[in-house]
Amino acid sequence: MTDGNGTLAWWQTGIIYQIYPLSFQDSDGDGRGDLPGILHRLDYLADLNIAAVWLSPVFASPMRDFGYDVADYTSIHPWFGTLSDFDRLLAGLHGRGIKLILDLVPNHTSDQHPWFLESRSSRDNPRRDWYLWRDPAPGGGPPNNWLSFFGGPAWTYDETTGQYYLHQFTPEQPELNLRHPAVLEAMLEVMRFWLDRGVDGFRVDVPWLLIKDAGFRDEPENPAWDGIDPHGRLLHIHTAHQPELHRIIRAMRAVVDGYPGERVLIGETNVPEEELVKYYGAARDEFHLPFNFRLIYAPWDARKIRQMVETYEAILPQRASPAWVLGNHDQPRIASRFGPDAARVATMLLLTLRGTPTCYYGDELGMENGVIQRDRIRDPQALNQPGISGVFNRDEARTPLPWDTSPNAGFAPEGVDPWLPLGEDWPMRNVARQAADPRSMLALFRALTRLRQCHPALSHGSYESVDTKADGVFAYKRTAGAERLLIVLDFAGSEHLLDSGELADGAEILLSTGMRRTGRVDLRRLRLLSNEGLILKIS
Ligand code: NOJ
Repeated sequence: MTDGNGTLAWWQTGIIYQIYPLSFQDSDGDGRGDLPGILHRLDYLADLNIAAVWLSPVFASPMRDFGYDVADYTSIHPWFGTLSDFDRLLAGLHGRGIKLILDLVPNHTSDQHPWFLESRSSRDNPRRDWYLWRDPAPGGGPPNNWLSFFGGPAWTYDETTGQYYLHQFTPEQPELNLRHPAVLEAMLEVMRFWLDRGVDGFRVDVPWLLIKDAGFRDEPENPAWDGIDPHGRLLHIHTAHQPELHRIIRAMRAVVDGYPGERVLIGETNVPEEELVKYYGAARDEFHLPFNFRLIYAPWDARKIRQMVETYEAILPQRASPAWVLGNHDQPRIASRFGPDAARVATMLLLTLRGTPTCYYGDELGMENGVIQRDRIRDPQALNQPGISGVFNRDEARTPLPWDTSPNAGFAPEGVDPWLPLGEDWPMRNVARQAADPRSMLALFRALTRLRQCHPALSHGSYESVDTKADGVFAYKRTAGAERLLIVLDFAGSEHLLDSGELADGAEILLSTGMRRTGRVDLRRLRLLSNEGLILKIS
């Protein structure tokens, strides 16, 4: 059990909301979302009761991986607007008390970045070793057996200089050599550029890949390979989790800490729990919030999720905040994974667990995976691996946010073809409709985020699981001072009669996922409906 007290930073108590900028709001009629579009929707953001917006990359880029291939870290891609638009958005958000977090992509650049253009121009270019170049293997072919996440080898041959360069995503995303002091310094300078402009922090892309084995040794076969995901064929002992990467993160954290205000460093730490806790830093000097992705991969099973939460709470360093996520731009939508009813329970789970939740745009409406016809697929991962794209391509989770029932759902003007098709259910599932329905998913989301703001037990209280002895139910207490809340969630899709009389006789329903139940209940005979979640105030 952990307790929250003392002075807490905004990132310990607030909610982070991820915007995928291409899909939020188009303001100039090109079918793509942009910064002025986000600015136009400030009221909506303020009504979500969030503490911060995290923007997926908006920097100059050839868009081979939709912004995760940066060609200039300090300019805005024209699709999104200009630096002045950015400053206006930042001021607008700050004016509403909302922080702004940018995406920092330090592991790789675009192959169009001037650093790489120089690097590939000749073997003796001063920037040659800013990237990872190797000779072909003795008999020809790639220097070793490393694989790309997006299919095929992690090496591409460059005719001009007769060597291969490393890339663990598309060939257009060459990997930087962060062991080179000048490269690290250049990346820290990028951070300073944005921090000087007033941004409140960064979400750092693929930090577990930042350093590669200096000897470039082959990786062993994975005996437990599922035979499906080509990248999973090897055990990534030389391309991931190299201890030296923590030095890089500490350097980034030192930059962030050098600025006044409470700036935050967040890690896309899509790694197993035992690795994950290391990213807080031995002296709590790395990420403030290393994302915990385990809920994304967990089956919808009360016992397993409880066990996962307990295990994580038990291994967390002292005074560290968990940073749970349930969805993002790389993962299937929550509502498609668990179904629309369970999605409401999942949202209550995310917003009532201890720690800082990050919510993905559109999940507040219960958006489902879009249907993307083969000829409309844009995701390079899916395009490179058609076998896997049959199962899921990331475009499905990146469809435009439906605002209302006007043409193109208010996302883009009439007659414009949005960059990805709208989800098929947009005429029914959109912001305007849900804002008018007091029991919609949006209404539930806003009620949950409001409750978190008003109840210290939710925003920073301690966590303790409660044994209800009912299969399919996960229950826990959140406590701060005299305030005691009980959260009870059905995962089984069945009704339960629970006896939690040992906690107290009665309690008051603060919120139910169905948004119909209120008033006092007898804790010795607590009825929990199928696919229901309850937040109860114990008295
Ligand atoms: C992780 C990002 O979330 C993903 O969208 C991207 O493709 C890879 N990193 C490469 O930058």
